[in-house]
Amino acid sequence: KLPHTFNEPVELGIIGGTGLYHLESLTPVARLTISTPWGAPSSSITISKTETGFNVAFLARHGVHHDTLPSEVPSIANIAALKSIGVKAIIAFSAVGSLQQDIKPRDFVIPNQIIDRTKGIRRSTFFEKGFVAHAGFGDPFDPKLSKIISKFGGVLEGENVKLHSKELDGKDLTVICMEGPTFSTRAESKLYQSWGGSVINMSVLPEAKLAREAEISYQMICMSTDYDAWREDEEPVTVETVVSNLKANSSNANKIAIEIIKSLEIAIKNGEIGNDLKGSIKYSVSTAPK
Ligand code: ADE
Repeated sequence: KLPHTFNEPVELGIIGGTGLYHLESLTPVARLTISTPWGAPSSSITISKTETGFNVAFLARHGVHHDTLPSEVPSIANIAALKSIGVKAIIAFSAVGSLQQDIKPRDFVIPNQIIDRTKGIRRSTFFEKGFVAHAGFGDPFDPKLSKIISKFGGVLEGENVKLHSKELDGKDLTVICMEGPTFSTRAESKLYQSWGGSVINMSVLPEAKLAREAEISYQMICMSTDYDAWREDEEPVTVETVVSNLKANSSNANKIAIEIIKSLEIAIKNGEIGNDLKGSIKYSVSTAPK
């Protein structure tokens, strides 16, 4: 039985997506049930300590029993809960479909861009009731986090898995975020390719926007499970295809997470990560003082 309170700051948050419900290498020291002004997060938050005493928070985006649809994920409560315990940087994992031949099922992708294909039914801002602010979102992820993660692509090579990132591939990697839960038609899948989409999921938004508003550095690690629906010679994506690759992806996520956490512990402690957005919202507010 883990304690339900924890009084030290927790500066790194990990959000686990479909197939990733905990991190194996970490030893949990507390399990927090947090309530926020925006309601309860998708799951309790598990706090773990690394061997060197660095605190890491883990949250399961769809709940630990996967009972939350992408459209129903309480992203605003998830981000608020992580912020409330001191999180400065978030690494968010997500299962994705691939829109490119060279991004094979099980490959990892560190996107640097997003195209929004959600339908406006998800709450995507903390601002309301006469308080107007417009956070910058031109580069929706933290390039410093991407750079750090990219260093560990080699960890996956033994598994025959390639890690794609702007640093490594020299081109933009764009995640399309669709509403779901139904997968795309073949025509939509090809349209997204023509837009330059690299991968597709149902989860990066509004999570990334809310993290930006909360001044938390954020990077998603996409784990490919399928070729979506654009390949004419192939059955379009089914949940069976997705699930068959999830197990391998989850094991690979655990392998790379250990290395990323070690590196981020140093980068956060020395102030290199987690401070770039500090105060940024102050300059995004456009409501006149009363
Ligand atoms: N998650 C995993 N595969 C996906 C796909 N093809 N489309 C949307 N979300 C996904």
